Amino acid sequence: MKKTVQMYEGKAKKVFATDDPNLVIVSYKDDATALDGLKKGSISGKGAINNRISNYLMQILEKNGIKTHYVKEISENETVVKKVSIVPLEVIVRNISAGHFASRYGVEEGIVFDEPTFELSYKNDDLHDPLLNVSHAIALKLATKEEIAEIRSMALKINEVLKAYFLNLNIKLVDFKLEFGKTSNGEIVLADEISPDTCRFWDAATNEKLDKDRFRRDMGGVEDAYNEMIRRVLGN
Ligand code: TMP
Repeated sequence: MKKTVQMYEGKAKKVFATDDPNLVIVSYKDDATALDGLKKGSISGKGAINNRISNYLMQILEKNGIKTHYVKEISENETVVKKVSIVPLEVIVRNISAGHFASRYGVEEGIVFDEPTFELSYKNDDLHDPLLNVSHAIALKLATKEEIAEIRSMALKINEVLKAYFLNLNIKLVDFKLEFGKTSNGEIVLADEISPDTCRFWDAATNEKLDKDRFRRDMGGVEDAYNEMIRRVLGN
C-alpha cells in the first residue's frame, strides 16, 4: 500500500489517498487551534502523541466490540485508516460539567452527573459548530434516525469502556468529542481521533488538567500535559 496525493488538510491532521481505494493515511500535525480556528498555535510533539494515544484507544475499543476506522500505525505520526465519509456531527459525551456545558448553563465545573449526557453539534466551523437535537440533525439530513440511534449507543458504550480504562490510570474522563464515518458498504465506524485534543482529562487525585484546555485557556504546561498523558497510557 502506497501513499499518493494529499486529499485534505484539516486543523490538526492531513489526509492522503493511497493506491487502495478503501484506505487513506492520516498524518497528525503539531498545529493546535481553538475558537474554531481563530486562536492558532503549535504544541511540540502533539502530532506523534495524539497519533499513538488515539491508535491505542481505538484498539482497546475494537477489543470491546466497537467498530473503528483504525487499520495500522505506520510511523510516529501517520496511520492507515479505512476511508469513510464523515458524518457531519460532533458527538459529545460528558460525565462531569466543564467547558461549554458549564458556561452555557451557568454552572461551575466539576459537577459529577448521575448519568452521562449525549450531545450533538453540527460540524461546521463557519457556524461555530451549533448545538442541535436529534430532530434537527434528521431535518438537516446529516444522518438518519437509525444512524443516530446507532451512534448514540456506540458513544455511550465507548464512554463506559474509556471511563473505566482511564480511572485505572488515575484519570477522570470528564468529557470528549467523537466523530463517526460511513464506510463504502454503509457501516458506521468510529473515526477521527481520541486524544488530549478531543477529551478532557483530569488527574483523579488533584483535578489537574491534562488536556488541550491548557492551550485553550493559556494555562501553560501544555507540552507537559500531553507528555504526561502518553506516559500514563503507553508507559513512556
Ligand atoms: P465543550 O465543553 O467545549 O463543548 O467541549 C466538549 C468536549 O469536546 C471537550 O472534551 C473538548 C472537545 N472538543 C473538541 O474535540 N473539538 C472542539 O472543537 C470543541 C469545542 C470541543
